[in-house]
Amino acid sequence: MVSEWHRQGERVALVPTMGALHDGHLSLIRQAKEHAAHVVVSVFVNPTQFAPGEDYERYPRTLETDMEKCRSEGVSLVFAPDRNEMYGSDDEERPHYLSVRISGMNRHLCGASRPGHFEGVLQVVNKLFNIARPDVAVFGQKDIQQWFIIRQMAEEFEHPVEILMGPTRRESDGLAKSSRNVYLSPDQRRKAPMLFASLKRVSDTLREQILKQDADSGEIPVPGTLLSGEKQRFAENGFKLDYFSIVGTPDLQPVDVIVPGRLYVIAAAAWLGNTRLIDNVLLNTRKE
Ligand code: PAJ
Repeated sequence: MVSEWHRQGERVALVPTMGALHDGHLSLIRQAKEHAAHVVVSVFVNPTQFAPGEDYERYPRTLETDMEKCRSEGVSLVFAPDRNEMYGSDDEERPHYLSVRISGMNRHLCGASRPGHFEGVLQVVNKLFNIARPDVAVFGQKDIQQWFIIRQMAEEFEHPVEILMGPTRRESDGLAKSSRNVYLSPDQRRKAPMLFASLKRVSDTLREQILKQDADSGEIPVPGTLLSGEKQRFAENGFKLDYFSIVGTPDLQPVDVIVPGRLYVIAAAAWLGNTRLIDNVLLNTRKE
């Protein structure tokens, strides 16, 4: 099907997902449609990006409704392989000897607390790019480390695909939409928007300092108290903070100074009970 589209000179966009589609995913599909005649959505809960003890088994699976949503968004093809189709079954002669090694970009943020996660993501996205051969692929800002690592893979491995970023879709109280939000109890759900509120507060404070600074002076130090105050607030509200960091791009290494004109990410991950929430904001460092 994809070959036929390519033969006819029609562009193909890919939106990889693990299903349980929500407005965030649908917004990526709409964005993809602006760039291609055909949108392919993959729905696959990829086992290789879950560590033992993570939520692979209980991850929500709602293929029927996902298919309906894709249909009403005008998606041309939903690719929903099963585990064996992607990786072969244990009794089959299809061994795996290779993996992609990531240097540096997975040392911090989610990569630090989820060893092997981004290698698993690259493994499956690599396969998906080769299967669907998209001209463009859209990934969400919500998973910002994933976005930068995938874009790096596409560039370094010469995948002929343009990687686009879709903005994070949120509930009206600011909580980033996520397939995992269904795990939250009512009390946790009430507290969950704190994550974004906190990221925004840090971003607004830094933004003020950038705008206040003389035109000719250079770096802006990140005050140590800025993050420690936020970290304390999380502890007081029953969050178990995994990280709260300011990192540079595209290397994703923590910084303690901001250089105007460069792009930074303020990112956090925290546990509320058994649910891990992540979110981030991009820091605008332009002096205007
Ligand atoms: P999944 O968590 O299903 O997310 C699929 C895509 O939706 C990702 O690009 C993610 O960043 C984006 N997304 C999630 N929540 C969003 C929101 N609130 N607003 C906008 N976009 C959002 O990310 C994965 O699946 C997997 O790792 C995958 C890339 C499919 C590889 O298995």
